[in-house]
Amino acid sequence: MANNPIVAAPMAGITNRSYRKFLRKFTDGLIFTEMVSVEGLKREINKTVDYIKLSKSDNPIIIQLFGYNEKSFSDAIKICEDYSKPFGFDINMGCPVKKVLKTGGGSNLLKDLKQVKKIFRYARKQTDKTLTAKIRLGWDKNSYVYKDILQLAHDEGLDGLIIHARTKSDMFSGDIDYLALENAAQLSTIPIIGNGNITDLSSYKKIMETGVKAAMIGRAIMHSPWIFKAIAENKNPEFLLDSKGIYSLLMELKEYEIEERGKNYLNILKKYAVFFSKNLPNAANFRKQIYSTSDEKEVLQLIENFFCNNPG
Ligand SMILES: Cc1cc2nc3c(=O)[nH]c(=O)nc-3n(C[C@H](O)[C@H](O)[C@H](O)COP(=O)(O)O)c2cc1C
Repeated sequence: MANNPIVAAPMAGITNRSYRKFLRKFTDGLIFTEMVSVEGLKREINKTVDYIKLSKSDNPIIIQLFGYNEKSFSDAIKICEDYSKPFGFDINMGCPVKKVLKTGGGSNLLKDLKQVKKIFRYARKQTDKTLTAKIRLGWDKNSYVYKDILQLAHDEGLDGLIIHARTKSDMFSGDIDYLALENAAQLSTIPIIGNGNITDLSSYKKIMETGVKAAMIGRAIMHSPWIFKAIAENKNPEFLLDSKGIYSLLMELKEYEIEERGKNYLNILKKYAVFFSKNLPNAANFRKQIYSTSDEKEVLQLIENFFCNNPG
């Protein structure tokens, strides 16, 4: 695995090509793509294939795949190899959203370990590159399966296991089970990457103290993408930049978004301007103002006024 112990999580709608380019300002560690459908790849649907087209700055990158059929996983990996040269592949076994559950994949796999074994085997046969799976602890508190999956991962030759230390029923709230991470780290001979609720230096340290080899950051990527740099410098993200520094970053992100989607960049820029304003004074008012207009000039002016004249 890569040397940097701080990893950027797969985030649908977030870790797309343009935002990943932006994230590379803050980390040289592993970044995961948004989840990509193995069935969509198999049928070479244009929109799905577009997800796996990588840019120069992307590596080391892991393409995350979701689906159910083992053969489709190996076909999808082959197609990825034809189109791009990623560092590795990851199997999504934690997603709780309906669209993914309907395919039989995502966290449904936590209830179908026979199928998990097949998927691991077919995927492993298809690639010598880094191969991981991203799981939750189990479907709910009464059905933890992370130890069984860890055993399968060992048996089938995976290179690492990412554990979001919650259950499917917890969705995105609920406590992180640090003890389970500690158990997994003790049992495992392959690297465990711990995931859940890392927002600052102390939550990062808390996960690393369980003995996991690396920590994966999810939602904080949206609000403070500079968290990677902050933690590497032993700082909390809210103290890394002043509001003018955040403004410069937003203008850089704007260029990446224009490159990727042309004139349709504005809504994305508004979204991140609101995300990045989170810890600054008058953020609520700024949010209201920015969502009340779609005029490009007005939006850009509001952003400049807010970040360049903000005392925060
Ligand atoms: C908007 C959003 C999109 C996500 N997309 C994915 C995804 O594509 N694949 C995946 O395995 N997990 C996905 N997740 C889960 C995150 O990768 C991560 O496991 C989860 O948010 C817990 O980490 P955190 O507490 O640091 O946010 C997503 C989460 C959010 C909030």
